[in-house]
Amino acid sequence: MSTFLITGSNRGIGLELCKQIIARGDEVIATCREASSELKKLSLRIEEGVDISSEDSITNLRQKLLGIELDCIIHNAGIYEFNAFDDLDKESIIRQFVVNALSPIFMTKSLKSLLKRSSKIAFITSRMGSIGDNSSGSSYGYRMSKVALSMAAKSLSRDFLKEEIYVAILHPGLVSTRMTGFTKYGISTEESANGLIKRIDSLSRNNTGTFWHANGEILPW
Ligand SMILES: NC(=O)c1ccc[n+]([C@@H]2O[C@H](COP(=O)([O-])OP(=O)(O)OC[C@H]3O[C@@H](n4cnc5c(N)ncnc54)[C@H](OP(=O)(O)O)[C@@H]3O)[C@@H](O)[C@H]2O)c1
Repeated sequence: MSTFLITGSNRGIGLELCKQIIARGDEVIATCREASSELKKLSLRIEEGVDISSEDSITNLRQKLLGIELDCIIHNAGIYEFNAFDDLDKESIIRQFVVNALSPIFMTKSLKSLLKRSSKIAFITSRMGSIGDNSSGSSYGYRMSKVALSMAAKSLSRDFLKEEIYVAILHPGLVSTRMTGFTKYGISTEESANGLIKRIDSLSRNNTGTFWHANGEILPW
């Protein structure tokens, strides 16, 4: 049995990851700012009050988890705010940078001692953070924050190689969640989480640092 820690687990893709991972018999530590009624129904450990952008919050979490070995951290929590060029909002861009790019990396640093040989770290980034795939422009803060996250995750995949800790850089697909206004063009959280878990399961020394779509396609940087 493996132990997963998942951020942003109260709704959307994070909640579905929790459901599928416990359904197959693994343990989940579900972190969130505030637990939802759906999350509370699941048989897992909930750590509430975890704002990934708050240093105090992450230090408290680490204290509570001391002595636990994590097989996998899934950095899922994130925000999207629309920023067109004509309407650039510095605060909004900084907010997205802090939550989407800086927080997962600083949280990894804080929880690093709970990882062991062959542990995995999955960063839920986005195809919108792919420079090669950017055909529609705009969304400055989100795109910049996710490309920064992917770059940091790639560096971690190199830095942690000697410790045999492996890193996945994952796009969940266009998914029908609150983030996308529950778009009818999106795939379900079930399909997305199922693919993400397959990618994490297949992660090894040979493919650490790869940028994948949940469906298995390797994406351009
Ligand atoms: N949906 C898509 O099509 C899509 C596509 C590409 C990438 N992604 C990425 O997939 C991940 C999950 O997105 P989703 O679609 O499931 O979105 P969602 O339904 O909006 O869920 C976002 C989650 O992140 C949490 N969160 C945001 N800021 C946080 C913070 N400072 N501290 C702790 N938790 C925080 C939210 O918690 P609260 O409930 O407390 O706000 C919520 O649980 C995100 O990283 C997103 O960028 C999504």
